[in-house]
Amino acid sequence: MDTQVAIIGGGPSGLLLSQLLNRAGIATVILERSSRDHVLSRIRAGILEWGTVELLREAGVGARMEAEGFPHDGTFLTDAERMVHIDFKGLTGKQVMVYGQTEVTRDLYDAQDAMGTTILHGVEDVSIHDLDGPVARVDYTLNGERRSLTCAYVAGCDGFHGVSRQTIPEDKRREFERVYPFGWLGILSRTPPVSHELIYANSPHGFALASMRNANLVRCYVQVPLSDKAEDWSDDRFWAEFRRRLPSETAARLITGPSIEKSIAPLRSFVSEPLRWGRLFLVGDAAHIVPPTGAKGLNLAASDVFYLHQALTDALQTGSKGGIDAYSDRALARIWKAMRFSWQMTTMLHRFEGEDSFAERMRGATLAHLAQSEVARRDLAENYVGLPF
Ligand code: PHB
Repeated sequence: MDTQVAIIGGGPSGLLLSQLLNRAGIATVILERSSRDHVLSRIRAGILEWGTVELLREAGVGARMEAEGFPHDGTFLTDAERMVHIDFKGLTGKQVMVYGQTEVTRDLYDAQDAMGTTILHGVEDVSIHDLDGPVARVDYTLNGERRSLTCAYVAGCDGFHGVSRQTIPEDKRREFERVYPFGWLGILSRTPPVSHELIYANSPHGFALASMRNANLVRCYVQVPLSDKAEDWSDDRFWAEFRRRLPSETAARLITGPSIEKSIAPLRSFVSEPLRWGRLFLVGDAAHIVPPTGAKGLNLAASDVFYLHQALTDALQTGSKGGIDAYSDRALARIWKAMRFSWQMTTMLHRFEGEDSFAERMRGATLAHLAQSEVARRDLAENYVGLPF
């Protein structure tokens, strides 16, 4: 065999899996379609659950996150005027870490370089074979040349559009999906955050999120119709709409500035079952997508990696197959709970075009209930900080 585990995809989930496996003495090869610069130019979410923080530390990539990340004790949910504080620390004893996914990815690349692992970029036309035999094979093209890689196991970390999930025969897969009728327009701007914690705003004009990366870099979003294009939104138009969706006291403090990135992301909930097909295991977005409202995307990929690295280490080092046999069910049990939470947060905080006044009242009543009930706030906090792995 050329390697023990072939990892399709060099985003954060593939890199983290490779990092944990190599530290356990298992050889990997990562095949990535894009260049490293391209992977590192993608701006993604910025909230790490504490379990993810601990897993990154265990993987030996915690140092910069410790130094530059910001632990947050809570968050705010608002509507036109009401601000409800969810005190994560007080309600669950746990915090979350504000540290961008792009930074996590950069730290993982640096750690992989230091260990001298193999990461091939510019890999095209990947196909996966012999998943039911004794040795699996991955064929691919690099620099115009067709090559193959033999391995014991294949980890599909290649995202929603990747080839890994499609390799499982269609009649053996079951897919579950909700597509939401809006997107998030996000900007990055070198301005100070409007609040020391994130604000999820459910306004009569639609949803907005005030997030941040550091004391002088914010990430802000507004819900927009799917037909909108980022070019339709000047910075002035963005900030005017964002301000309109915040409670007035907060809006009065808002400092605006030019955007350094602006893009629209659609919202979707998606799960494909099972996560295993013979010697192939799906991880992260290759198997499931959550809308960003619960900040669960990267965190779910991290819990998949947690289960899979243990399972593969057991299988390859002790010959015990219990972990790989249980991987799909174990990971899915946690995935579905995060699916529920992300869907609930999305439904609670967004305006659905054409909705009736009943739906609007339901959103208002949910927030009123959260304002009044510590049990309700604890439930939200427990999910937001992350259910146990
Ligand atoms: C972000 O900072 O980009 C972010 C934070 C929280 C979310 C989604 C995105 O729920």
